[in-house]
Amino acid sequence: MTRILVKKQYNRFPPHGFAVNQMASLIEMLAISKVYGQGNGVTKALDNLDLTVEEGGFIALMGPSGSGKTTLIHIMGFVLKPTSGKYLFKGKDYGEASEKTLLENRRRIGFIFQSFHLLPMLNVRKNVELTAMISGMRKPEREERVMRLIEQVGLREKADSKVYNLSRGQMQRVAIARALVNNPELILADEPTANLDSENRENIMSILERLNRETGVTIILATHDEHVANKCNRILYLENGRLIREA
Ligand SMILES: Nc1ncnc2c1ncn2[C@@H]1O[C@H](COP(=O)(O)OP(=O)(O)O)[C@@H](O)[C@H]1O
Ligand SMILES: [Mg+2]
Repeated sequence: MTRILVKKQYNRFPPHGFAVNQMASLIEMLAISKVYGQGNGVTKALDNLDLTVEEGGFIALMGPSGSGKTTLIHIMGFVLKPTSGKYLFKGKDYGEASEKTLLENRRRIGFIFQSFHLLPMLNVRKNVELTAMISGMRKPEREERVMRLIEQVGLREKADSKVYNLSRGQMQRVAIARALVNNPELILADEPTANLDSENRENIMSILERLNRETGVTIILATHDEHVANKCNRILYLENGRLIREA
């Protein structure tokens, strides 16, 4: 079986503000495999995958349903442990980490989901603030930060509106503010525009692009949409749990 080694190289364009030779790795994955189930019912979701993600990158994962995109995102975000392989985040290996260590490290990540995962009965401000409360941020800092992020995603007028009254595009903007509230080292977005119309898709992508450009935060997103992937500086194609090519 041949293994495709994904090179730390830019076929498209390097991340904003970085010369290619200055880039440090945020993530290194070596021979990562993930098997679900036991006995006859096993599924190999990731198969001996190697991948390096540089700090400041804006990266798309593409591939058919079932190719392993969500599994890869979950391993990167300390949600799932690989069955085997090394997962280095900022040089430290979490491939064998305990559940407790994974849970603690999950705070370093901002997650954005296809179906938003907000609390619809709470207002915009509370949805963003809860994540900061859980991580123990003090009230004055928290309130200031929450409002600043809500403004950054263009929802100042909606800060006190219940989430169920918002449009889907606005809901995803709340989710972006929430993903940013703890100052994450990495943003992981699993099909963030799949439930949006084209205008909201553009809007969400320009917010993510600006975020990557202005703050340098690394963003990895899974998508089925070529248009979305084309905004990223690397496109990785998955098939049957393997990286088959990069554009
Ligand atoms: N919790 C799970 N239990 C068993 N099989 C799973 C589980 N999650 C995903 N899979 C299987 O693993 C493979 C990869 O799935 P997934 O990572 O969700 O791919 P994608 O996000 O690209 O659609 C699929 O065959 C899927 O059915
Ligand atoms: Mg998926």
